[in-house]
Amino acid sequence: MAKIIVTGGCGYIGSHTIVDLLEHGYEVICIDNNSRSHATVLNAVEKITGKTVKHYKIDLCNYEDTCAVFEEHTDISGVIHFAAYKAVGESVEQPLLYFENNLISLINLLKCVDEFGVSHFVFSSSCTVYGNPDSIPVTEDTPIKKAESPYGSTKQISEQIIEDYAKNSAAEHILLRYFNPAGAHPSALMGELPLGKPQNLVPAITQTAIGKLEKLWVHGNDYPTRDGSCIRDYIHVCDLAHAHTLALRYLEQEKNEKSCEIFNLGTGNGNTVLEAIHAFEKTSGVALNYAIGPRRSGDVIAIYANNDRAQKVLGWQAKYSLEDIMSTAWKWEQELKAGQTVFN
Ligand code: UD1
Repeated sequence: MAKIIVTGGCGYIGSHTIVDLLEHGYEVICIDNNSRSHATVLNAVEKITGKTVKHYKIDLCNYEDTCAVFEEHTDISGVIHFAAYKAVGESVEQPLLYFENNLISLINLLKCVDEFGVSHFVFSSSCTVYGNPDSIPVTEDTPIKKAESPYGSTKQISEQIIEDYAKNSAAEHILLRYFNPAGAHPSALMGELPLGKPQNLVPAITQTAIGKLEKLWVHGNDYPTRDGSCIRDYIHVCDLAHAHTLALRYLEQEKNEKSCEIFNLGTGNGNTVLEAIHAFEKTSGVALNYAIGPRRSGDVIAIYANNDRAQKVLGWQAKYSLEDIMSTAWKWEQELKAGQTVFN
């Protein structure tokens, strides 16, 4: 049974990925400083899978602490690195915090991968690296544009660091570029738990529907799209999670041609903000209190994935629809309200 370190394993995508890994026979070690997550999510992981995960509450920016985990577990075959700050607005206000946290942690981890002979490294990147693309859908070869935020820059620089490092490393690497992860585990035992007011669309929708937010503001309806609102590729977090298991398997089976390969992870469908709202209304039966507001600065007009490479090479396919995303996110929001989750 291969042993994998998942950093940021208590976070939204990390926790769903741990479940998928456990369900596919991996042993998982979690590293998370819990600065923006709750270790209790691992209770939900245990409930879903019936398996336990050893958790280290340490900061990856501390090299000695990071090394100590690898020293204790000398048989780690792969690392999936999620741990990072991800709030776009905060990154604009505190760029150094973002560069320091997201880059030092990555460098420390790569040093450990090298020192302890770990074979596989999977990195959590983002479609934010494409900036405002000239044409859509974007393929992995679509040129990288200037990042719209320091957060986006950290993803671009991280990719560059890994690509350069991979050229002289014994390990094999994969960069996964996520589009818009959303939805929750179908059990409603885990889901997204935004800190403060949600910036992302789906939690903003469900929090409005439950009454935590008074109104959902649509950030602009005067874009050159079919209904004037921005287009994104919403991917269910469980579909995204499974892609990490497939990425590891792909490296284990030595199918990779390069020491660092890149995959888009999106459904290949672009939906507007208004379509997302209507999908929510349809599945939940709740009429959402929303209004059209001004554009949000830094928003890309339209982006969705060409996911041919992930389908053909990894054998990955999105199983959940936009409606599934909305219904699982809604069920999760209702459980949160009912006080039925490990976070309550
Ligand atoms: C954002 C980041 C992206 C990051 C991702 C991480 C930007 C430009 N991009 O993606 O780099 O990887 O978050 O979570 O910030 N919307 C509303 N009303 C709301 C919230 C959102 O209309 O209350 C709209 C947005 O304007 C956008 C769409 O919904 O058109 C999706 O927004 P969001 O969920 O924040 O994701 P991104 O902006 O695509």
